[in-house]
Amino acid sequence: MNLIIFGAPGAGKGTQSAKLVDQYGIKHISSGDLFRNAISNKTELGLRAKGFLDRGDLVPDDITIGMVKEVLQGLGSQGFILDGFPRTVKQAEALQIVLESVSKPIDLALFLIVDHKVLLSRLVGRRVCSKCGAVYHIDSKPPKVSGVCDLCGSPLVHRPDDQESVIANRLEKYQEFTAPLRSYYDNLNLSVEVRGDREEKLVFEEILRLSGKD
Ligand code: AP5
Ligand code: MG
Repeated sequence: MNLIIFGAPGAGKGTQSAKLVDQYGIKHISSGDLFRNAISNKTELGLRAKGFLDRGDLVPDDITIGMVKEVLQGLGSQGFILDGFPRTVKQAEALQIVLESVSKPIDLALFLIVDHKVLLSRLVGRRVCSKCGAVYHIDSKPPKVSGVCDLCGSPLVHRPDDQESVIANRLEKYQEFTAPLRSYYDNLNLSVEVRGDREEKLVFEEILRLSGKD
């Protein structure tokens, strides 16, 4: 199973990807997580990407494509869910070429649809595990112990790009560069729309139904 999940910042891409990984045993490839890991490890990639993430701008295509291509080429026979990539038409075109070269066609491109007001409150209240990346929300999905990951016991953090001024820029970038990919995947007959403003469990059940394995 090879999937792509799209959606504005806070739509629930990471949340649903984690469930799909458990369900299908596929690899979660989150370009945002790859950048954040590189930043915390202070690698050359991280140093190049940091300013873009801090401002909520897109990292240039050549850097991003090279990073994801390397992961896809190392997958072997495992399926994947791409979360946060592609984000531009150029990235989508490059992805098609890489996937052809490794004989891994996309089965479905899921588009999570969530209203802007809901996105803002989700991002402002989000906390993520600094070690394993598990996603929480202070109101709708609090950890058992405040500030501590249920899964690995590490501290939870508030992402630096989850401040209102940066969120606004991220939402604009999504509308300008990523929303047009809907028609790109419509043309390939791969896109499906999922209402992401319902309970996590209901969103997941619909994704399972659409991917044909409910
Ligand atoms: P990235 O990490 O991809 O961030 P994003 O797209 O802004 O998306 P988020 O991770 O913020 O949201 P999400 O949809 O995963 O929501 P989540 O499940 O956490 O990218 C970060 C940055 O990296 C970019 O700004 C850019 O600089 C750079 N970058 C990355 N990829 C790039 C690329 N391809 N090209 C160029 N630059 C790139 O959920 C959010 C909250 O809502 C959580 O608290 C969660 O608990 C809650 N929640 C989730 N689902 C529900 C639900 N159904 N009901 C109630 N609450 C829910
Ligand atoms: Mg995410």
